[in-house]
Amino acid sequence: MKRDPRLVRLSREHTQALMLAQRIERTPPDAPDADLSSLYSTVLAFWSGGLLTHFTAETDCLLARLLHHVAEDDERAVRLQRDHLDIETLVGTVRDGAGAAARREALAAFATRLRDHVRWEEETLFPATESLLAPDELDGLGADLAARLPEQPPSVDNTRPVEVVRAHVVGPRGFLLGKRARDGTWSTFGGKVDGDEEPGDALRRELREELDIDVLDYHRLADRDRKWDGTPARIAIYAVTRWSGKPRNAAPREHSEIAWFTRDELQKLAMHEQARLEALRLEWPATAAVERAAPP
Ligand SMILES: [Fe+2]
Ligand SMILES: [Fe+2]
Repeated sequence: MKRDPRLVRLSREHTQALMLAQRIERTPPDAPDADLSSLYSTVLAFWSGGLLTHFTAETDCLLARLLHHVAEDDERAVRLQRDHLDIETLVGTVRDGAGAAARREALAAFATRLRDHVRWEEETLFPATESLLAPDELDGLGADLAARLPEQPPSVDNTRPVEVVRAHVVGPRGFLLGKRARDGTWSTFGGKVDGDEEPGDALRRELREELDIDVLDYHRLADRDRKWDGTPARIAIYAVTRWSGKPRNAAPREHSEIAWFTRDELQKLAMHEQARLEALRLEWPATAAVERAAPP
C-alpha cells in the first residue's frame, strides 16, 4: 500500500534505518575492531543525528493523536513506546557498555530490534494511523512532522564527507541569525553543496533561497571537519559582509524567524555553540577587508 504523503518523512528515515541494520547484520561476528568501531560511531551518529528526533516525533506527534482513538493500553501504543525505550537502551550500551563483548552484543541486538520495529511500523502502526485519524488530524500530523524532521533523511553512508557551507551574515546592525524551526535554536545560514557546485556558488544559492539576497562580498573564515546531520562533513564557514536586497525569511520551513543581534546579545542567546564562538571571534568592522565575490 502506498504511504500517505503526510507520513512520508518518517518512512524515508525508515529506509536509512533498514540500511544501517543490514550493514550491521552483514558484518561478521569476528570482524576486526576497526570495522566495529566504525559501525559504533555510525550508530551513535545516526542516533544523535536523526533517530532520537524520529522517535520523539513519533511519540509527540503520532502517538499523541492515536491516543484520541485507542486506549492507553492498546497493544500498538504500548509496543511503540517499549520498542523505542529498548532501542535507546541498546544505543546506550553500544556507546558505553562494559567490555567489548557487551558492546558487540548490543550492536547486533540494536540491528535486529531496529529492523523489526521499522517493519512493524510500516506494516501495522502506520496503516492503523492512516485509517484511525481524521483527515484534519492527519494534516496536523503531517505539518508537525515537517517542522520537526529534516526534508532529507539522515544518511548512514559515512564513507565520504558531504560538503557544506555556512554563512555569518554581518552588517552594521550586528549578526543576522535564523531560528531553526527544528529545535528553536538560533544559527547561521547555509546548507549542502550540490553536485558539481563550487562552495562560493552554494553560498550564494543558499542565501538567495533562505534570505532572498544576492551576496556581493564574502570572506572565507575557516574549514572544519565535523558531523552534519549525523554524517561526516567538510564545512566551509564564511562571513558575508555585503549583499543586495533586504533580507527576509524566505525559507519558513527551515527558520521560524530571522533577526539581527548585537555581539552582547549573542552571549546569552540559545544558539548553536560553534556558531556563537565563531561569531564572537569575528572582528567587525575588520571583516570589511573582504574578498570580492566572483561575478555570477
Ligand atoms: Fe518508532
Ligand atoms: Fe519510525
